[in-house]
Amino acid sequence: MAVSIDLKGKRGVIWGVANQRSIAWAISERLAESGAELAFTYLNERLKAPVEKATAGLDNPILLECDATDDAKVQSVYDHIKDKWGEIDFVVHCIAYAERDDLGGDFSATNLQGFRTALETSAYTLMPVVGRAAPLFGESGGSVITLTFDASQRVYPGYNIMGTAKAALENEARQLAVEFGPSNIRVNAISAGPLPTLAARSIPGFRDMTKAHRERSPLGRNINHKEVADTALFLLSDMSSGITGSIIPVDAGYGIVAL
Ligand SMILES: NC(=O)c1ccc[n+]([C@@H]2O[C@H](COP(=O)([O-])OP(=O)(O)OC[C@H]3O[C@@H](n4cnc5c(N)ncnc54)[C@H](O)[C@@H]3O)[C@@H](O)[C@H]2O)c1
Repeated sequence: MAVSIDLKGKRGVIWGVANQRSIAWAISERLAESGAELAFTYLNERLKAPVEKATAGLDNPILLECDATDDAKVQSVYDHIKDKWGEIDFVVHCIAYAERDDLGGDFSATNLQGFRTALETSAYTLMPVVGRAAPLFGESGGSVITLTFDASQRVYPGYNIMGTAKAALENEARQLAVEFGPSNIRVNAISAGPLPTLAARSIPGFRDMTKAHRERSPLGRNINHKEVADTALFLLSDMSSGITGSIIPVDAGYGIVAL
């Protein structure tokens, strides 16, 4: 008998669509194809039109503006969703930002403000995005994913403070997995290989990263958005019910190669 992942009747909140190249959007398309109902948050008024455009083909998506570094705004997103839906089944966190000056150049030149901006946006936000969603999950629990990168463990020149932020993010994913495990809320991270997106464009050396992954990964190529989206679908479904607190690489195997 064919086995497929069916998310009909499941509902979730997607954080981090900026446009149709966003990883969050690739994940959303896959989730929608599998029958899930989706709510989207977008950072600010400027992103409203691109997010409306991306989601135009979906059936009645909920769209809410929210800067995820503002706890009160995160809470009001979930209050709104609770009023509309009552319960949710999954959350997708695809949020990252660092000041352009702090990407490239000497890592030691990162100042306190730049450190705060990168860590608050790219790591801290997972905590309210998961913590404040927790009361909305039903008795059977649910699943959360975030997006990380290999630079949490190894040095990619130019990625700088974002590597520090990803290390913090991965640690949070493990701590949240332990905290919410008793409620059967699973928390995992996908560690994706380089993909051309808005955020990626501001990383100096992104082309070199892409080239190195293509040339040295066991699969001898770069990954694509759909491969991340398929893994997200698996992690957000009951098919992955035994997995929590894990960092799952979708990197064509690059992470296992030393030379
Ligand atoms: N593109 C890659 O190569 C790659 C690889 C591995 C991991 N990732 C991670 O994937 C995630 C998504 O990035 P992407 O590449 O799709 O780029 P993207 O630019 O499409 O997405 C980043 C999102 O973060 C949002 N954001 C920034 N600050 C925010 C804030 N304060 N509140 C709410 N939202 C905020 C932006 O609006 C945008 O939607 C990021 O965590 C990124 O680090 C990307």
